[in-house]
Amino acid sequence: MSEFTKTAALMKRGTDFLGSKYAILCGAMSWVSERNLVSAISNAGGFGVIACGAMTPDLLDTEIAETRKLTDKPFGVNLITMHPDLMDLIGVCAKHGVGHVVLAGGIPPKGSVEAIKAFGAKVIVFAPTLALAKKLLRSGGDALVIEGMEAGGHIGPVSTSVLAQEFLPSLSEDHLVFVAGGIGRGEAIAGYLEMGAVGVQLGTRFACAAESIAHPNFKKAFFRASARDAVASVQVDPRLPVIPVRALKNKGTEAFTSKQREVAGLLDTEGLEMAEAQLQIEHYWAGALRRAVIDGDIENGSLMAGQSVGMVKEEEPAAAIVSSLMEESEAALTRR
Ligand SMILES: Cc1cc2nc3c(=O)[nH]c(=O)nc-3n(C[C@H](O)[C@H](O)[C@H](O)COP(=O)(O)O)c2cc1C
Repeated sequence: MSEFTKTAALMKRGTDFLGSKYAILCGAMSWVSERNLVSAISNAGGFGVIACGAMTPDLLDTEIAETRKLTDKPFGVNLITMHPDLMDLIGVCAKHGVGHVVLAGGIPPKGSVEAIKAFGAKVIVFAPTLALAKKLLRSGGDALVIEGMEAGGHIGPVSTSVLAQEFLPSLSEDHLVFVAGGIGRGEAIAGYLEMGAVGVQLGTRFACAAESIAHPNFKKAFFRASARDAVASVQVDPRLPVIPVRALKNKGTEAFTSKQREVAGLLDTEGLEMAEAQLQIEHYWAGALRRAVIDGDIENGSLMAGQSVGMVKEEEPAAAIVSSLMEESEAALTRR
């Protein structure tokens, strides 16, 4: 687009890779990133990603088909590596000729990257450390997302600004790196692009788009919240490998602490396997998020949100959010 020349030039490798107009991904958000939001983002020139976190292969099959009816633009599918049906889900993506698969939630299990590449799709990976990023990019990852702890949902321990300084100088020349976590405005996008990122991923800013099916109560909670309300969960038992989750503080925050105690108790008394314990925790999150997003129970459900939630003030169409991000980025680059 001629009106965003400077931003488009810095995004060129990202847009070539994604096949979208702008290298702005809407990160997959379980229950939120379904056909409506995904197609709206892609139709707006961004890149929508279906969240398959809690879906069965049959549900994913339907969701991809329904999304295709709403957009002829490219979109991706996010698969969680610990999903018990991961290989079947990859099979569903193959059946539909999905162009981009995002593997989230840990190191991809053996054979998964190969199975995705076998049907010609591009693989997007996450990595918490530079060493792991290099390993994943060597072993088939086509692009990398670095995500800082400002983000909503499951988070690592390091901030986006530090990850960007650590990863981009050594990776950006030879690899495609997208930056996520805490991005609320286009000025930040301009900054990361100048550092070598080929694009960005946002979740929180898009969760309340007009096309998002999130319950009105969920959206209202976002509009009211400020950055300091989006807090990371705490780990109560050092044995339980609980990945922290950033969400708006509510009664559900305390319920998660009790859930951890319950699962830790099962480790002691029932000899529960660690992997099973972790799966139970993840099922808990999927259920809690559903309660907030779909049922509108904002007291007891999980209101996963990043620190950029303070910049979400009203319901706006996805296209308006995408274009204001591009305008802000372009204005920032023009001022340089
Ligand atoms: C409500 C919500 C649900 C999310 N669910 C998922 C998910 O299912 N899978 C995933 O890989 N990331 C998930 N994320 C992370 C987003 O994909 C994205 O990377 C993140 O929101 C980017 O940071 P930001 O929130 O600061 O924009 C979720 C984020 C939010 C806010």
